[in-house]
Amino acid sequence: MMEFQQHEEEHRRIFQQHLSQIGVRRCVSYHLAAVGGFGLGFVTGLIGPSAIAATTFAVEHVVLRHLEEQLAYLRTAAPDARDCVGRIYDDEREHHDAAESRLARDGWLTRLLIAVVQFSTEMVIRIGMR
Ligand SMILES: [Fe+2]
Repeated sequence: MMEFQQHEEEHRRIFQQHLSQIGVRRCVSYHLAAVGGFGLGFVTGLIGPSAIAATTFAVEHVVLRHLEEQLAYLRTAAPDARDCVGRIYDDEREHHDAAESRLARDGWLTRLLIAVVQFSTEMVIRIGMR
């Protein structure tokens, strides 16, 4: 899991560098994700490993779909930005698959947690895309 944190910090660095190169500010989603991520991490950390796996799976599931759309869109629209997304995609796929393999899908609490986290992640992305 420390490896995941290193990945995420590297992803942040990649995007920070690109945004400063093109002179664009971070979108509001950055701050929403920071607050939401801290809250989710805190709550699921208290519940335990199954909640952490469910939350990671849920977030990455939505994130991967978003990244795939962005890869397709940016290919012609902004090839440099596409390269940034391309550099993080495999890491996010790894996080998703690792969480999925630890997932206990049968519990109603897990299913509810996944649904709530997927919806919230979707909203954070949509707000940032406006
Ligand atoms: Fe990730």
